[in-house]
Amino acid sequence: MASSSKQLFQICGRAVLNSYSKAGFHCSPVAVQKLVPNECEGPSMKTEVPGPKSKELLKRLDEVTKNVGAVQYFVDFEKSLGNYLVDADGNVLLDAFTHIASIPIGYNHPAILDVVKDPANLAIFANRPALGMKPTGDYPDTLDRVLLTVAPKGLKRVQTMMCGACSNENAMKQAFLWYRQRERGGPATAEDIETCMLNKEPGCPPYSVLSFDGGFHGRTMACLSLTHSKYIQRLDLPTMDFPMAPFPILRYPLDQFTKENKAEEDRCLEQVLQIIQGRKASGKPVAALIVEPIQGEGGDNHASVNFFKQLQKICKETGTAFIVDEVQTGCLATGTFWAHEAWNLEEPPDFVTFSKKMLTGGYYFKDEFAPDMGSRVFNTWMGDPPKLLQLEAVIKTIKKDNLEATVREASDVLIKGLEDLQAKYPSHLARARGAGTFIAIDGTSPATAAKVVNTARNKGLLIGLCGKETIRFRPALIFQKQHCNIALDILNKVMAEF
Ligand SMILES: Cc1ncc(COP(=O)(O)O)c(C=O)c1O
Repeated sequence: MASSSKQLFQICGRAVLNSYSKAGFHCSPVAVQKLVPNECEGPSMKTEVPGPKSKELLKRLDEVTKNVGAVQYFVDFEKSLGNYLVDADGNVLLDAFTHIASIPIGYNHPAILDVVKDPANLAIFANRPALGMKPTGDYPDTLDRVLLTVAPKGLKRVQTMMCGACSNENAMKQAFLWYRQRERGGPATAEDIETCMLNKEPGCPPYSVLSFDGGFHGRTMACLSLTHSKYIQRLDLPTMDFPMAPFPILRYPLDQFTKENKAEEDRCLEQVLQIIQGRKASGKPVAALIVEPIQGEGGDNHASVNFFKQLQKICKETGTAFIVDEVQTGCLATGTFWAHEAWNLEEPPDFVTFSKKMLTGGYYFKDEFAPDMGSRVFNTWMGDPPKLLQLEAVIKTIKKDNLEATVREASDVLIKGLEDLQAKYPSHLARARGAGTFIAIDGTSPATAAKVVNTARNKGLLIGLCGKETIRFRPALIFQKQHCNIALDILNKVMAEF
């Protein structure tokens, strides 16, 4: 290429991937648009991960926290850019896991840096308000401008929170308050007020939330009673008397098991109905049902559109609130801004909870679920306004760079690549599946899945584990075709070592 055209490419934020193909990767040497200027051409590894620096830091952190069991290595945010994470040892890794699915548009995206650098935002970064009591004057407009522009169709009310678990906790609380108001049909009695302070009925009604086997909704004490993905999260901890229904276990390829999968979903729906009716008859009603559009932590378990439509129908018919937990699926991860958009529901869910890629926790809800009094849903921070400004930059970038198309293209390339890989290694890999870039493939054993993830990491690709033996991809929305090709190339090399 002539140097003048090389220069032009750089000015346009473009790069040519020929260095990658020289290094043995199969990317074609065509000009590709980089969504984050100056992003690396590919991973480069100096040490195994964790390297010596990470190991040293791990010892130091352990001295302070005595809680480093899950820390694998340390990151260097200053050097990380776009889809590439740099670790403390200077390794450059292609990140298809993004801090458990929570980095929406890559590291140090210019649009987010602009928000942080803008002097007009200085005061709100420097002073964190107690939002439930003393929000700043621009807060209503900010909510409107940011969260309501991406509200699920039909939902106009939103409450911010600090994380996924506290979003689910408070959505649950609003559902309980709604249920109680309907049951009581008037203000609280003196007996209600007295008994609620003693952990007794009727002030503390024996309500519950129905969740699914394999579901994950957070680790606070009430959310833990909804979480059934790994024993380590629950062992030795008391739970609330909340029921659990089976979640469909689908057989793949889906088009070859239509009848069996329908029967499996009907079995689960039947149990949902039985639990709700049984609890009501025993005076311990189910006030709400909570479900993930795709069970993320539980192993990327999918169900059909019909399953979710039927769930909503059961909720409607039994007077149960329908909570859709989009903490991991929201913000375009599955190809639509909210995963439940793909269900084409006749009316919106009663609650949609979010966090992770949305940068702030929170939930949308229908009017009738609004708390009946002040101070019912409350904590000191109730969110963090600078996160909304960063989210605004994310939403604008999604539109400006048409990231919906980027996710669609990456989805096709990754799923097809994983299907090819599973056809090549059927005794090690199975059930490639996904929506958008919320993609997974199973190892044929937990050890196989772990080996794939660990070997890939040492070759410069970050992916994650979930469920018993599932390998999951949770890249940022700027993960493009060229990144998919690099990831697939690394996975091919990993599998060649099996
Ligand atoms: C579906 C779902 N809900 C809730 C949570 C809890 O979110 P947080 O870890 O922010 O509390 C998670 C976290 O992985 C999740 O995947």
